[in-house]
Amino acid sequence: MTPDLLSAGAQRHAAALARAAASGTGGSGGRSASYGRLLGAEVDFTHGVALYLDELTVSFDGFKALNALSLSLDVGELRCVIGPNGAGKTTLMDCITGKTRPDSGRASFGSTLDLLRMSEAQIATVGIGRKFQKPTVYERLTVLENLELSLAGDRRVRHLLRARLDGAQAARLDELMTLIQLRTEAHRSAGLLSHGQKQWLEIGMLLAQDPKLLLLDEPVAGMTDDETARTAELLLGLAGRHTLMVVEHDMHFVATLAAGHRKVTVLHEGRVLAEGPLAQVQADERVVEVYLGR
Ligand SMILES: Nc1ncnc2c1ncn2[C@@H]1O[C@H](COP(=O)(O)OP(=O)(O)OP(=O)(O)O)[C@@H](O)[C@H]1O
Ligand SMILES: [Mg+2]
Repeated sequence: MTPDLLSAGAQRHAAALARAAASGTGGSGGRSASYGRLLGAEVDFTHGVALYLDELTVSFDGFKALNALSLSLDVGELRCVIGPNGAGKTTLMDCITGKTRPDSGRASFGSTLDLLRMSEAQIATVGIGRKFQKPTVYERLTVLENLELSLAGDRRVRHLLRARLDGAQAARLDELMTLIQLRTEAHRSAGLLSHGQKQWLEIGMLLAQDPKLLLLDEPVAGMTDDETARTAELLLGLAGRHTLMVVEHDMHFVATLAAGHRKVTVLHEGRVLAEGPLAQVQADERVVEVYLGR
C-alpha cells in the first residue's frame, strides 16, 4: 500500500473524532485537550519507516521491564517478536499504544508523529491497531454487526453513521468477511463462534479501521493447529498492505510468518538480544542460552 493510501484511514479517523468532538461526545477531557494540536498531524511514511523506537526504558518500582530498547519496522514489514516470559514484549506494545509511558527514549510513528507526546486515544486514531490476547468482540451481536460497528469508526458516533453504510462500505464488509473466513457465519452471534473465529473477527474489526500498523500479542494462543495455520495465512496476506508486529511463543507459527528471511526480533530482559532471519537468531548462542536457561 502506498503512503497516500496508508494515510487515507488516518484522515477518516481524524474526521470521525472531529465529528464526535463537535457533537460533544468526543475527547477524553483535559488530557485529550492538551494534546489537541497533534490531531491534525499527518503520518509520514515517505522514508519507509513505519515505527522507530530508540532506547525506550520503562521501570516498575526500579525494575526495568524495558531497558534502552531500540527497534524499527519498515513500512509493510511483518515482524515477529519473540522472547521468554517477562522479556518485555507486552510492555513494548503498551508503550507503542500509549498505555504505558516510558521513563526515557523516543518513539515515532512514521517519521513525524511523536508517540510519546500523544494520548492512548490519539494513537488509536492515527492508525495503530492492537489485538490483545483475549478476544474482545460483542458476543451478542452477529459477525456482520461487529464488523459494521468497527467500520463506522469511532464507537461514540457509530449510531449516527450506521444508518449511512453505503455501497462501498457494504463491499468492504464483504471483503473483510471473506478475508477472515467468516462469510458463512455473517449472521451468527459472535458468542457462538469458536475461539479461533473470535480472534479472526477481532482482527477483522481492527482491519475495518484500516490500521497502518497492527500489533498482535499472542494471536494464536489457545487455537487449534488448523486455526493457527489459517491465522498465519491471514497475517501473511496482510503484510505489505499493513505493517505488522506479532508477538508469539508458538515457534512453528513464527517460522511460517518469518519464512523468506523476514527479520525476527528476540527480546530478553527488556532489550533486543538478537535480530535477523529466524535461522540466524536460533543459531545465536545467547538466544539458545536464554531459551534453555543455561
Ligand atoms: N504493571 C506492571 N507492574 C510491575 N511489573 C510489571 C508490570 N507490567 C509488566 N511488569 C513486569 O515487566 C516484565 C515484562 O513483562 P511483560 O508482560 O512485558 O513480558 P512479556 O514478554 O510480555 O511476557 P509473556 O511472554 O509472559 O507475556 C515482567 O517481569 C513483568 O512482571
Ligand atoms: Mg506478554
